[in-house]
Amino acid sequence: MADSSQPTIIRGRFLDIQHLVSQPAEIKEAVRYIEDGVLMTVQGKIVCFGAWQDHQDNLPSDVEVKHYPDQLIVPGFIDTHIHYPQTEMIGAYGEQLLSWLNTYTFPTEIQFEDPSYAKHIAAFFVNQLLKHGTTTALVFCTVHPASVDALFEQASEINMRLIAGKVMMDRHAPEALCDTAESSYQESKQLIEKWHGQGRALYAITPRFAPTSTHAQLERAGQLKAEFPSVYIHTHLSENKDEIAWVKDLFPEREGYLDVYHHYGLTGSHSVFAHCVHLEEQEWQCMHDTQSAIAFCPTSNLFLGSGLFPLQKTWDKQVKVGLGTDVGAGTSFSQLQTVNEAYKVQQLQGNKLSAFESLYHLTLGGAKALNLDHLLGNFDVGKEADFVVLDLAATELQALRQSKQKNIEDSLFALFTLGDDRNVLATYIDGKEAYYKV
Ligand code: GUN
Ligand code: ZN
Repeated sequence: MADSSQPTIIRGRFLDIQHLVSQPAEIKEAVRYIEDGVLMTVQGKIVCFGAWQDHQDNLPSDVEVKHYPDQLIVPGFIDTHIHYPQTEMIGAYGEQLLSWLNTYTFPTEIQFEDPSYAKHIAAFFVNQLLKHGTTTALVFCTVHPASVDALFEQASEINMRLIAGKVMMDRHAPEALCDTAESSYQESKQLIEKWHGQGRALYAITPRFAPTSTHAQLERAGQLKAEFPSVYIHTHLSENKDEIAWVKDLFPEREGYLDVYHHYGLTGSHSVFAHCVHLEEQEWQCMHDTQSAIAFCPTSNLFLGSGLFPLQKTWDKQVKVGLGTDVGAGTSFSQLQTVNEAYKVQQLQGNKLSAFESLYHLTLGGAKALNLDHLLGNFDVGKEADFVVLDLAATELQALRQSKQKNIEDSLFALFTLGDDRNVLATYIDGKEAYYKV
């Protein structure tokens, strides 16, 4: 684990969102932009943040100040839905959800029965997160418990805050990828006891989606949640129209797709449902009433042809939402690319997604979706020190565009439209530099 006992002092241009809001029009007021600021961290926590001129005289004189005069420093990006075993199959051609799973995903995930393979990909994956400025993610592993160990072990080396879990899946998948209601319960329970709250690791009970779990397995998932109320629930919901029709066939006794999860006690303030592209009105209400959260995954929804997520509905219905890359159906690890596509998905529905709203969803809003806004999401003193140093002019074209920027909002929007991992100069986790672009 990185040594976080030494203070870190960073000077530069800082941008974050100070508090949660209930409507997008309120975000601008919540934006905090400090052109010459300073951030000090001790043991992974922010202990001082503000204008350089206000704090410079109170800083310890024996600690080097790392100065980023030309960059922009923002809270680390939060990815609310991603599959680490699918890293290698990003960009798989030609299918929509259900055939994509059978053709590409399941054969890829079978390889994770080999723990050394899981270790290899987990290391690659964590490095990709860092390279792209993602400091916290909610992650699907595979059905194999060792795939969870591999990921948490890798993240624990830098004390990264990850939420992850073993897939529960006992039907409609290859035999080699199926567990049983009982084994999935026992294995998940052991993993919760081993990892949940260990350092910054948190566990998510992870039924893949309703079609790949029997009623008995969903019941066991609900039992686990009742036994360990602070763990997360992470699954997929209403992504694709054929998927929704299949769920209605498989669970005719339920009122709809979300009602399947709700019935088994899987909705709630620590539940995150990926996609939710085609929710019905009563399902929006249930999401609100149960304080469940949505992971909006625009690159995936476009790539698999799943549909256009109605982001405005999350404000109308006061439903928590974060952004997810959903790699490997999603086409980039970059949350900059993700908000670029989110903007276009909203344009196609006549909505404008402002740069500040995108920043909100990537940081404090995403933290709220994961119930971690008391720990993450902005530069408030006392929060965990995960942040990203962005170079806004990493290419000739970006440099030209940024030379014409009108203000910080315009500059940020240009970054979101043109940006990707080339813009990430450094990523700090737990107060320490965990990645620096060479
Ligand atoms: N629904 C069930 N499994 C998956 C998956 O692996 N990816 C996506 N995008 N949707 C799913
Ligand atoms: Zn997914």
